[in-house]
Amino acid sequence: MKVWFITGVSRGLGNAIAVAALAAGDQVIGTVRKGSAAFENAGDRLHLLTVDLAKPGAAEAAARQALSVHGKIDVVVNNAGFGVIGALDDLTDDQLEVLFEVDVFAGIQICRTLLPHMRAQGAGRILNITSVAGRAPGAATAAYAAAKAAVEGFSAALAAELDGTDIHVTAIAPGQFRTDFLDNATMPEDRQVGADQGGATAKALSSLRQINQRQLGDPTRAASVIVRLAQAANPPTHLLLGTDALNRVLQQRDRMDAEMKAWEAQTRSTDFGED
Ligand SMILES: NC(=O)c1ccc[n+]([C@@H]2O[C@H](COP(=O)([O-])OP(=O)(O)OC[C@H]3O[C@@H](n4cnc5c(N)ncnc54)[C@H](OP(=O)(O)O)[C@@H]3O)[C@@H](O)[C@H]2O)c1
Repeated sequence: MKVWFITGVSRGLGNAIAVAALAAGDQVIGTVRKGSAAFENAGDRLHLLTVDLAKPGAAEAAARQALSVHGKIDVVVNNAGFGVIGALDDLTDDQLEVLFEVDVFAGIQICRTLLPHMRAQGAGRILNITSVAGRAPGAATAAYAAAKAAVEGFSAALAAELDGTDIHVTAIAPGQFRTDFLDNATMPEDRQVGADQGGATAKALSSLRQINQRQLGDPTRAASVIVRLAQAANPPTHLLLGTDALNRVLQQRDRMDAEMKAWEAQTRSTDFGED
C-alpha cells in the first residue's frame, strides 16, 4: 500500500488522481484550500490538510505535516495550480508573484522537504503536473508557460540528480482537460487580463474561452494513467497526456528542428577557432 501526497484534491485532475489512488487501495493525503472534498469509500485511507499554497512557507509546512501522518510518503503529486492568461504587457507583478508561488515554488519546496526522507527510504516517485503550454507555448500564455517551463526544467534536472536511485521524477504535461481550469472558479475575470485588440493574444483568449468545459481530455482517464505510472519500475522523465498535447509538441519539435538546421552555421560559428 503506497502513501500519496497530492496537492489540490478539491476538484479537477487532483481530485481524479486521489480517487484513482484510493481505488487502487492506497493511502492519500490531499490538500484543500477550504472546506472538505467528497470521496466515496475512502474510510480512514484519506487524510485532508487545509493549505493555501500562495502563502509563504505553506508548502514546506504541508509537506512536513503530510510526512507526519503515516511517517512516509511514497508518491508526491504537485498538482495544485492555475493559469494566468492575457497579453504579457497587461500582467501585473502581483499576478506573476502568486502564479509562481503556487505553480512553481510550492512544488520545489515540497520536493526539497520530502527528498531527504525519500533518499533515506531509498525509493520515491515525484510527479509534477506541468502543461503542454510549458513545452509548446502559444499566445496569451506567456506567464503560465514560463511557470510550467520552470517546472519542466527543475523536474528534468532533479531526475538527473537522482539518476541511479529508485527515486524517479516525471514531469506530466496535460493538454486540454475538462476541469474547472478555464472556468470562472479557477480563472476569474481579474486573471483574464485585457487583450491586444484583434491580435494573436485576443484570438487565443477567445478560443480558450470557447473550449471551456468542452476540452478533449478526460481527467478520470488521466488519473488511471498516473496511477499506473506511479507503479512503474522505470517511469519516464516526461509524459504528455492527450492527443492535442502530442500533436502540439510534435509540431513544435518540427519547427525547432527546422530552425536549428537553418541557423546551424551561425550556431557553430561562435566557438573559439584556430584562426
Ligand atoms: N485542465 C487543463 O486543461 C490543464 C492543462 C494543463 C495543465 N493543467 C494543470 O493541472 C493542474 C490541475 O488543474 P485542473 O485542471 O485540475 O484545474 P482545477 O479544476 O481548477 O483545479 C485546480 C486545483 O488547484 C488548487 N489550487 C489552486 N490554487 C491553489 C492555492 N493557492 N493553494 C492550494 N491549492 C490551490 C484548487 O483548489 P481550490 O478548489 O481551493 O481552488 C484545485 O484543487 C494544474 O497545475 C494545472 O496547471 C491543467
